[in-house]
Amino acid sequence: MNTEDLGNSKILNLVFKPAGMLMGSRARRWLMNPIKTLQGADIQPGQTVLEVGCGTGFFTIPAAELIGDQGCLMAMDALSDYTKRVSKKVQAAGLENVRVVKRDALDTGLDAASVDKVLLFGVIPFPFLPLNRLLPEMNRILKTEGTLAVWLFPVSGWVPKSILQSGLFTYVSKRNGVYNYRRC
Ligand SMILES: C[S@@+](CC[C@H](N)C(=O)[O-])C[C@H]1O[C@@H](n2cnc3c(N)ncnc32)[C@H](O)[C@@H]1O
Repeated sequence: MNTEDLGNSKILNLVFKPAGMLMGSRARRWLMNPIKTLQGADIQPGQTVLEVGCGTGFFTIPAAELIGDQGCLMAMDALSDYTKRVSKKVQAAGLENVRVVKRDALDTGLDAASVDKVLLFGVIPFPFLPLNRLLPEMNRILKTEGTLAVWLFPVSGWVPKSILQSGLFTYVSKRNGVYNYRRC
């Protein structure tokens, strides 16, 4: 079974339900300000942004507000329950600049060089997102001046090293806990 099919599995969606509750919990909001973390990614109004593994949308609504009406945010997740929840949140917030996409981020289906910024927030390391497949796909869809913003949970020192060793990205900065890379 591929990741696309797994994302529709009732059992898997059930298994990930508690994680979804934690992701959107008040405790998390109390401990972490999503806007401050997003500011570390230097999101600009009007940008086209891909959020990989949007989960239940902890970062989605604030990211959509940062890019504004002229921007476009694609919030992607493989799990159908999560994308349904995010779609409801987006609708409730009346946002028209967000596309919620249920899809395997290892094969985004997006055009080459079509994205200004990719957000990998709280998604790596993750078993279904191996870096050796994820990074080439992110490199492919980013524009020449496009950037990759990575917020690690759990903090894993080997991930920034692996990103550099891939030869696909160069380090730009670390701000508010977010590593920023430019596409090579
Ligand atoms: C730990 S959660 C983080 C969610 C969200 N970014 C947050 O910080 O609240 C990781 C998310 O990545 C998604 N994910 C894992 N593998 C994926 C894949 N191959 N394609 C798309 N999403 C994936 C999971 O379904 C899950 O929602």
